[in-house]
Amino acid sequence: MSVPYKYQILPIEKVFRDTVHNYIHVQHQVILDLINSKEFQRLRRIKQLGTTSFTFHGGEHSRFTHSLGVYEVSRRICDIFVRNFSTEQLGIKDGWDDQERLVTLCAALLHDVGHGPYSHTFEHIFHTDHEEITAKIITSPETEIFQILNRVETGFPAKVASVILKNYPNPQVVQMISSQIDADRMDYLLRDAYFTGTQYGTFDLTRILRVIRPYAGGIAFQMNGMHAVEDYIVSRYQMYMQVYFHPVSRGMEVILDHLLKRAKELFRKNQTDFLCHSQLLVPFLREDHTLQDYLKLDDGVLNTCFIQWQQINDEILSDLARRFLDRKPLKSVLFNSTTDLDILNDLRRIIEKVGYDPDYYTATNRTYDLPYDFYRPNSASHRTQIELIQKDGELVELSKASNLVAALAGQSQGDERFYFPKEMVNEKQEQQRSIFETSYQEFRKYFVNGAIIHP
Ligand code: NI
Repeated sequence: MSVPYKYQILPIEKVFRDTVHNYIHVQHQVILDLINSKEFQRLRRIKQLGTTSFTFHGGEHSRFTHSLGVYEVSRRICDIFVRNFSTEQLGIKDGWDDQERLVTLCAALLHDVGHGPYSHTFEHIFHTDHEEITAKIITSPETEIFQILNRVETGFPAKVASVILKNYPNPQVVQMISSQIDADRMDYLLRDAYFTGTQYGTFDLTRILRVIRPYAGGIAFQMNGMHAVEDYIVSRYQMYMQVYFHPVSRGMEVILDHLLKRAKELFRKNQTDFLCHSQLLVPFLREDHTLQDYLKLDDGVLNTCFIQWQQINDEILSDLARRFLDRKPLKSVLFNSTTDLDILNDLRRIIEKVGYDPDYYTATNRTYDLPYDFYRPNSASHRTQIELIQKDGELVELSKASNLVAALAGQSQGDERFYFPKEMVNEKQEQQRSIFETSYQEFRKYFVNGAIIHP
C-alpha cells in the first residue's frame, strides 16, 4: 500500500544552501512540491525590502529566500519541541503535539506568498491586501498551491490559511508563525541585517532556540534565556530605526507612491497613452482584478512600466519615473505635533510657485513602530506578550523581568517628515539664479538642523 501524501518523506532529504541558516532542510514531499509551485517561485522576483535597497544596496534579497528561512526556523523549533516537550512521546502536559508539524511548516513557508511588488506602496494605491491575498492563494482551487495542500487532506488548505490569519485553534502553532517573537521576525531581522550589511539585527538565534518552549497558552522562553530575548527586542528596535525607517528609502517610496498615483489619475481622465506597454497594470487601474492578474505582477513588471513611462508625454509621470529609476529621492525635514501646520502649507505654496505640483512633489510621511508591548485588554491591537517561564513553572511577562525591555515597552518609536524636491535646497542648482531665486531663499529659512522651524 502506498504511503499517504501527507506522510511522504523524501528518500534523501533535500537541502537548500542559505546565507543565514547555512542549510534549509526539506524532508516532506509536500514542502518540496510547494517550493516548486509557480506561485511560490514567483517570490524570487519580488524583493523583500522594496525601496530599502536604494539606501542599503546589498538589500536585494527576495521574498523567496525569506520564506524558506521562516520555514527553516519553524522546522528547527518543531524538532526541539518534539525532542524535549513532546506530549505523545514524553508525556509532557500541555507540550507539543507533532501532528501539528506539517500544518505549521506549510504556514511558515507560505506566510508571505500573497506579497506583490513594492507591496507597501502598491497596497496603498491599489487597495490590495497581501494577507488577504495570501489566504486566497492558499484556498483557491485554481492555484497549484491549493492543489498540493488539498492532496494532503480535504480542508487542509483552509487549515493552513487559518494559521496565517491567526484563528487556528492551537496557539503554539499560531505564535510560532506570528507573535512578537516568531519565526518570521527572527528570520527577517537576521536576513535583512546580513544583506544590508548592518549589524543591528543580529541576535543569538541558537540561544533563543535553546530556551524556547511550548505551554498551554502558546510559546514561552525559559528565564535563563532572558538576555537573548532582550537582545532580540533591541535588535528589532534598532533595525526599524536604522534600516526600515531610513529617510532616503522613504523618499524613494514617496516617489513610487506618487508615480502610481499619477498613473491612476491619468487613467481616470482617460489619458491612456501610457498604457501601451503596461497592459498588466490595467486591471488594477480599473480596480477590477482577478487573482491571476495579481499573480502576473512582480518587480520586473513595475520597473518595465517605469522604463516605458520615461518617454510618455505627461511631464509629471515621465519625470517621476526618471527620478525613481535614477534614484533621485525627495529630500525631507522632520516635523512633529508642535509644528504649526500652516507652515507646511507655506512650504507647499513656495514649491508650487517654483513650478512643482505639490500633490506630486511634496508629501508628509509618518512612520512609527512599537518595539514591544505587553497585553493591554483595552488597547485596539491586542498583542501576545512574551512570557518567561520561571523554575517553578510560573510565567512572568518579559518587561516585568527586564528593565531594558521595560524602557521600550509601549513606546512608539519613529518620526514624521515633510518631503519635497531636493532642488529646493540645493544652493548650487543652476535654476536658482533664475527669477525664482527669492523663493528658494525663502524656502530655506524654514529649516534648522534638518527640522522645520518657524522663520
Ligand atoms: Ni515574512
